Amino acid sequence: MTTHEYPPGAPGRIPPPPAASPSVAQRTAWVDLTGRTALVTGAARGIGRACALRLAAAGADVRLADLDGPGLRALADQGVGEPLEIDLSDLDAAEEAGRGADIVVNNAGVQTVAPVQDFPPERFSLILRLMVEAPFRVVRGALPHMYERGWGRVVNLSSVHGLRASPFKSAYVTAKHGLEGFSKVVALEGAEHGVTSNCVNPGYVRTALVERQIADQARAHGVPEDEVLAEVLLARTPMKRLIEPEEVAELVVYLCSADASFVNGASLAVDGGWSAS
Ligand SMILES: NC(=O)c1ccc[n+]([C@@H]2O[C@H](COP(=O)([O-])OP(=O)(O)OC[C@H]3O[C@@H](n4cnc5c(N)ncnc54)[C@H](O)[C@@H]3O)[C@@H](O)[C@H]2O)c1
Repeated sequence: MTTHEYPPGAPGRIPPPPAASPSVAQRTAWVDLTGRTALVTGAARGIGRACALRLAAAGADVRLADLDGPGLRALADQGVGEPLEIDLSDLDAAEEAGRGADIVVNNAGVQTVAPVQDFPPERFSLILRLMVEAPFRVVRGALPHMYERGWGRVVNLSSVHGLRASPFKSAYVTAKHGLEGFSKVVALEGAEHGVTSNCVNPGYVRTALVERQIADQARAHGVPEDEVLAEVLLARTPMKRLIEPEEVAELVVYLCSADASFVNGASLAVDGGWSAS
């Protein structure tokens, strides 16, 4: 067993991050994004933050877009990028944010868990606006610059839920499936301009979004958090652990590299085998 593997139903707390993973500094040699401007949405924490750190380590000038001003400033204070405090559900602002970007990482997202008959309609609309329409508007803003330079990268943070459904996540699953379609259309239109567009499809990642779901379900069912993780969230995942945000960021930075120039219109699972089941 390596540090990345946990036996099914392992007792104890949520497994810790894998040990011995190389530092960001050790990973920078093979991806050089010097001279590229990258916009990362939802950059203040979680996967977006890890992507921002990784892209900055690869030499990109990173624009950090998020609602969470203090979170952004904390990153900017570390020299990671330029903060852009923005509500991406304001679609005109989202399009403006995309202007001038060579790399777009569409990452900002939220989750609501409820059966369809109880799902608040205004929440359904917001989730589609933030997770489908905002990526469309960001990319709409960015493409003219990318086409002019003959190079661009669009990376869409989709999910296994862009490929598979789960009950009680109607808005999220609908949004991620929509994002998958949008990503493929951009891949087709962008190809002749040196612009690629791909989806990254993580399983459950160790972020606030998932930790909230674990806590909510544990409360709702009166069971310990470990049990929710093993028996609900990871029930369909052969590898019984959460993914670390940095592992997702590694795939994102690869998609932005020169080596990935022929990877286009793809949906790349980083899900411990969930979508193979
Ligand atoms: N965590 C997972 O298990 C997981 C799995 C698959 C896919 N994803 C996807 O990855 C992306 C990031 O998820 P995460 O787990 O890092 O979430 P997170 O909740 O940790 O971070 C999301 C970020 O988006 C920002 N945000 C939310 N609404 C916004 C708005 N209206 N305008 C601007 N910023 C806004 C938040 O402030 C936050 O910083 C999401 O699209 C999510 O669907 C997450």
